[in-house]
Amino acid sequence: MASEQQFDLFATEGGVDAAASLARDINPDDIPTSATIPVPPGTYDDLALMKTHCNQCQRCGLAPGRTNAVIGRGNPTADVMIIGEGPGQHEDEQGLPFVGRSGQLLDKILEAVRFDPKTDVYICNIVKCRPPGNRAPTQVEMAACRPYLLEQIRVVDPKVILLTGASSVKGVTGDKRGITKIRGQWVEWDGRWCMPIFHPAYLLRNPSREKGKPKWLMWQDIQAVRDKVNELRSQSV
Ligand code: URA
Repeated sequence: MASEQQFDLFATEGGVDAAASLARDINPDDIPTSATIPVPPGTYDDLALMKTHCNQCQRCGLAPGRTNAVIGRGNPTADVMIIGEGPGQHEDEQGLPFVGRSGQLLDKILEAVRFDPKTDVYICNIVKCRPPGNRAPTQVEMAACRPYLLEQIRVVDPKVILLTGASSVKGVTGDKRGITKIRGQWVEWDGRWCMPIFHPAYLLRNPSREKGKPKWLMWQDIQAVRDKVNELRSQSV
């Protein structure tokens, strides 16, 4: 389908709801293939259609290297969302986020504060396709993928979001500061509690558990997250 026709599918005439219902009715092959075509809020009722679209997406230069778009794992109605940077090789092969060594460590960290990775959290990434050589995603790639991420956040509707590493923080809140400066501090974004934390890959490279070292700091941060989630859950009953 020509780019102009695709753009029409998302024309705001008739409002976001009209655009969204139109989007649901059309062939997934047809949208959204170009980063000039918006993906308005309300396009997706759930994440299954988004996955189909992401697997056909051509909005940025990561598309040709993709084996599988990586959408998410865990509970799509969880009150905690974890956002990583982008898929690595294992994630690209399996179509699931954080399934390599970083993911195994992430699961252990979650389990240490009694979060079940399958039921208590939803895990995803800033970009859905693998950046070559595991480099960080560029601003252009993050911007092209952002509508999907915003839809994902809207659909899952978490109360708490953990941002793993500087790219994740930059991709969500736009804060460009280094992770060591901002980790462990709650920030409000989109009416949600967000906490920047170290990326598990950084902890794999810095394995010391000594006080003040990255692993020790992560332990402080994840306990603060557990406390916040307990507090929010107790308020909502
Ligand atoms: N690192 C990430 O940021 N995301 C993944 O899915 C895997 C490794």
